[in-house]
Amino acid sequence: MSTPVAVLISGSGTNLQALLDDCDCQSSLAHIAVVISNRRDAYGLERARQRGIPAIWVPHRKKSREDFEADILDVLQQYKVEWVVLAGFMRVLTAKFLSAYHQRVLNIHPSLLPAFPGINAQQQALDYPVKITGATVHFVDTGMDTGPIIIQESVPVYTDDDISSLKTRILAVEHKILPQALQLAVAGRLLIEGRTVQVLD
Ligand code: GRF
Repeated sequence: MSTPVAVLISGSGTNLQALLDDCDCQSSLAHIAVVISNRRDAYGLERARQRGIPAIWVPHRKKSREDFEADILDVLQQYKVEWVVLAGFMRVLTAKFLSAYHQRVLNIHPSLLPAFPGINAQQQALDYPVKITGATVHFVDTGMDTGPIIIQESVPVYTDDDISSLKTRILAVEHKILPQALQLAVAGRLLIEGRTVQVLD
């Protein structure tokens, strides 16, 4: 039985695309049941529609955070979603939301956490400047990119990099490790012990 997953996005959705492609594989233990965006013009919604997957705009403006999250939870319940993946979703979730999906929300971040949390992680890496950065998939907790780490992969930073070249190099890694982490998650192979995530055989 394949596990229903929701992907929450705010933008282009290249990570969503990687998940859609991976979940199309026969061996996938997950399927994308619904894609939700807080931005109506997010191209990721179009990517979902092209696959015949429900693509739902849940606006965050002119409503409280609680109401926004309640609207998202309604959609998740409607589609019987069991796991949630944040893939470029630019809103921070509250403890109340996270308790509804306790240890079932993943996020992809374009740095080797705990370095460079928050927005513009790639620019932060260039500004520092570091010679190695990367991407991290982690469980979501109430902090900003602070939850237990599932997979990380490094990416070199070259002296002639600009924001575009570095983003592209990191994205290639994101597109690999996010589907990997989701498959491990839905297979029940991730065991959280404190801040440590053990990958079971
Ligand atoms: C990615 O770099 C992700 O790590 C970050 O936002 C970006 C989203 O890109 N959280 P995309 O919409 O998946 O192309």
